[in-house]
Amino acid sequence: MWNTVALRSLGRLHPNATPPQLPRLQTLNHVFERKYKDLCHSKLPALVLQNQGLKRTRDMLCCRLVSNKAKYRRCAKTYPVLDGRILSVYRHVFEENLRNSEAVIKRYSELLETVSKGGGENAILRHTQRNKKLFVRERLKLLLDDESFLELSPLAGLEMPYGDVPAAGCLTGIGKICGVWCVFMANDATVKGGTIYPIGVKKQLRAQEIAMQNRLLSVYLVDSGGAFLPLQSELFPDKSHGGRLFYNEAIMSAMRIPQVAVVCGSCVAGGAYVPTMAEEAVIIDKIGTLFLAGPPLVKAATGEYVSPEDLGGAKLHSEVSGCSDHFASSEKEAYECIRNVISTLNYDPLPEQVIEHDSPLYSSDELLGLAPRDYRCSLPVKLILSRLMDGSRFQEFKANYGTTLVTGFGHVQGHLVGIVANNGELTHDASLKGSHFVQLCSQRSIPILFFQNTAPHTAEPTSISQAEAHSNRLKAQASMMAAVACAAVPKITIVVGGCYGSESYVMCGRSFSPNFLFLWPNARVALVDSRHFSTVPQAGDNDCTGDELELKHLKEKLEEESSAFYSSARLWDDGVILPQNTRKVIAQCLEIVEQQKYGVVSPCQYPVIRM
Ligand code: COA
Repeated sequence: MWNTVALRSLGRLHPNATPPQLPRLQTLNHVFERKYKDLCHSKLPALVLQNQGLKRTRDMLCCRLVSNKAKYRRCAKTYPVLDGRILSVYRHVFEENLRNSEAVIKRYSELLETVSKGGGENAILRHTQRNKKLFVRERLKLLLDDESFLELSPLAGLEMPYGDVPAAGCLTGIGKICGVWCVFMANDATVKGGTIYPIGVKKQLRAQEIAMQNRLLSVYLVDSGGAFLPLQSELFPDKSHGGRLFYNEAIMSAMRIPQVAVVCGSCVAGGAYVPTMAEEAVIIDKIGTLFLAGPPLVKAATGEYVSPEDLGGAKLHSEVSGCSDHFASSEKEAYECIRNVISTLNYDPLPEQVIEHDSPLYSSDELLGLAPRDYRCSLPVKLILSRLMDGSRFQEFKANYGTTLVTGFGHVQGHLVGIVANNGELTHDASLKGSHFVQLCSQRSIPILFFQNTAPHTAEPTSISQAEAHSNRLKAQASMMAAVACAAVPKITIVVGGCYGSESYVMCGRSFSPNFLFLWPNARVALVDSRHFSTVPQAGDNDCTGDELELKHLKEKLEEESSAFYSSARLWDDGVILPQNTRKVIAQCLEIVEQQKYGVVSPCQYPVIRM
């Protein structure tokens, strides 16, 4: 995260200073931008600027913008170009990887197709025809500026022990509203009435965590029957269960991260707290209802029939209870209203600076052949980097030392980034180099991209000297872990191959809280690699002893549990992305994390408490 520590380390903040009130670049309006461009071209003295009524902070920011661009022109174009040619010696591995990528991408497309249908055809018909509501993806079209949003963990909830819960019953992601990047959380009521499953809670908590870490304002589209009752024990009592969502809403508000809600369906029980804890809420006539217990429970308890409208409809909550702040007579009106509300939050859009950049010199389609089928099929990681970096240019750091880790600087769509990429086992030297480099990035406030392909196993030591080497490596890896954990800059991890064991922590795995973590569909995530259990009998072999059979089952279980889809279903990542889309996703994430640099950071206060 860009934070006080980072600013202090850059000398931009006095050690005793209060948390920074960063100047708001977004207050630059078009007129001003035009003026500053004219100024840059004509090289008018600063005095003229003052005469034109422009404030000092703005002058400084302009200089920063200009100097950033100038810096890019001066330096990036001179970074050495990587040689990304696939040599003939790599061809057979490349072909093998390609075949594997095509198979896993086919599976990925099938899963996405399943998810796009929500709770299925009948449920969609019930939702749209009988209940007269818009399908959740239609709602997002009305809410967001455009369709180029970043959807998070769409495969979450598939093939869970309690069945398939498409998209975990709730779409989450980051999209632009009125030009500002916002996190959205939208229940899909076609999935069991939008009720919340344990995986749905986890998905929404992760979205809130992203909002907090990146200081993104949040929008809830609530259409939920509350807790999925058969799983109540996994939803209610513990710290990271359902109640945490409401706790977070208060904390986020106190952190000055605004949250707004649209009641676009049933909000029963737990579902009712989401809009009532939000800072501002809109409710839709005839569609939105909000109550702790619905009409069936009232009937059971009192014998009295009451309509949902009378019990907790839009009129009641807008005119009597005050639980809602705006009444909308249709869905369309509600999304227009919430967009207007967002425009009052005083979050101006990011400056629209088009950073000039070059495309990589090599085709991103070839990443499919570079995505390792298994660890033994890994090709030099610079072949991957040459397909992701602007102009395939890369300023390598310590090129000849600890070569099993590649470190250096490059640009992705004009954004300067530090790269840390596995290129073999994380040896002692490689880890020391990683530590050093991560600290450099932190000192310089440069976001770090981790390309993870960790080794599934390390050879057991067979001598004293090897044991010594192991313990030295352990110490070096621990130092890199500390550097990664404490680096006060945005971190994005892409698992391009293996995510195995402790080396995955060093490479900013999930428990090291990267701002975003994505997997390629070929990725394998496990403590150990099942494919290295060589003593296990082959499938179909019936002459197994008890121990062998157990081992065989263990291997099969490990194999199944290591896939990228298994991981993503459980939210161990923020989603599976196609290798050829990696550059676009990274650029989007970098833009999203950039937004907080322009936000006003203020000390923790009280949340907005609804009166
Ligand atoms: N737990 C488990 N399943 C639930 C559920 C709950 N709280 N609420 C609804 N469902 C299931 C229904 O059994 C139904 O399952 P099916 O498709 O397998 O038949 C599905 O969700 C859709 O429910 P349905 O009532 O047919 O849809 P609807 O759109 O007409 O109404 C609700 C949706 C949420 C308004 C309505 O189901 C309701 O009021 N549910 C009870 C909510 C409640 O009291 N929650 C308390 C939680 S503490």
